[in-house]
Amino acid sequence: MTAPADARPSRPRKAAAKAPARRRPAPVRKAPSPDEAREALAALRSEVGKAVIGQDATITGLVIALLCRGHVLLEGVPGVAKTLLVRAVAASLQLETKRVQFTPDLMPGDITGSLVYDARASRFDFRPGPVFTNLLLADEINRTPPKTQAALLEAMEEQQVSVDGVSRPLPDPFIVCATQNPVEYEGTYPLPEAQLDRFLLKFTVPLPGREDEVAVLAAHNTGFDPRDLSALRPVAGTADLDAGRDGVRAVSVAPEVLGYVVDVCRATRTSPSVALGVSPRGATALLATSKAWAWLSGRDYVTPDDVKALARPTLRHRVSIRPEAELEGVTPDGVIDGVLASVAVPR
Ligand SMILES: Nc1ncnc2c1ncn2[C@@H]1O[C@H](COP(=O)(O)OP(=O)(O)O)[C@@H](O)[C@H]1O
Ligand SMILES: [Mg+2]
Repeated sequence: MTAPADARPSRPRKAAAKAPARRRPAPVRKAPSPDEAREALAALRSEVGKAVIGQDATITGLVIALLCRGHVLLEGVPGVAKTLLVRAVAASLQLETKRVQFTPDLMPGDITGSLVYDARASRFDFRPGPVFTNLLLADEINRTPPKTQAALLEAMEEQQVSVDGVSRPLPDPFIVCATQNPVEYEGTYPLPEAQLDRFLLKFTVPLPGREDEVAVLAAHNTGFDPRDLSALRPVAGTADLDAGRDGVRAVSVAPEVLGYVVDVCRATRTSPSVALGVSPRGATALLATSKAWAWLSGRDYVTPDDVKALARPTLRHRVSIRPEAELEGVTPDGVIDGVLASVAVPR
């Protein structure tokens, strides 16, 4: 098991006088096998679990997004550890990460970068913005006005930014983990529906149960400081993600299961409460996340249960409810549950 062990020696270096500003993957390292990569990603999940209590489904979702090179949206009321979760994932990965706090006065150039005049050379130079990273934490994305949101969403879609007519490719992987407060909060700019589709997964981060909340307090009581995540080790890196992707690619999907994915997505389009159902792009997303989950679970084929397990987080932001149904309390999750209960499951 090379992955976690290799990560360890990089820690003491932090104390050195000229420590590098960024963590880098260990230079000489045999490429991990898909099985070793799966172990490293399991280690990643438990490493993040050291800081974040009781959000296992969301942690696993972030790993699935990394495997699929997809972006993730975390929605929840303030104070449920959305930010902590993404920071903990970043700290447990050998990837370059940056964080941007989205505020009402943030400009598109603060994300993408901008041209800066160099007076001595009398020319404009491009100063790259924080999108030039592997894992971008876009915190409270809906507190910023649409123009700035659009700059980020464009970069997410195109994996590049264009400033002053010049296109600059973003690093690979480039994955955005965005957090947002529920839209009914004051002073928020909801993301446009067409752009929500660019997130592979959307998780609603719930309030913790009583027992988990007591565990959070117990950790704080014994000195856990959420601002200092230096105790988390970078246990997985790009090589594990690459090997994991090879593993996911090798996962087979029976024609009946492909048909099941399509039937589930089509059923959302005909639901009477739905104004706009899941697009074919959404169907491909469900296929991708189901395959990643099958591989993470140690299988090389997708079952209908994999599809069911990923249906809510993959589809919920791709279903828009008619206003009158919304008033009656219909939610995307409710529609998806109804669809899963009614569509015939292949066996
Ligand atoms: N499930 C949890 N596990 C560990 N700490 C938690 C949890 N929920 C809340 N906390 C504590 O509450 C703080 C608030 O979390 P934060 O990430 O800022 O929330 P959010 O981004 O959702 O507003 C955390 O730093 C942590 O101290
Ligand atoms: Mg936060």
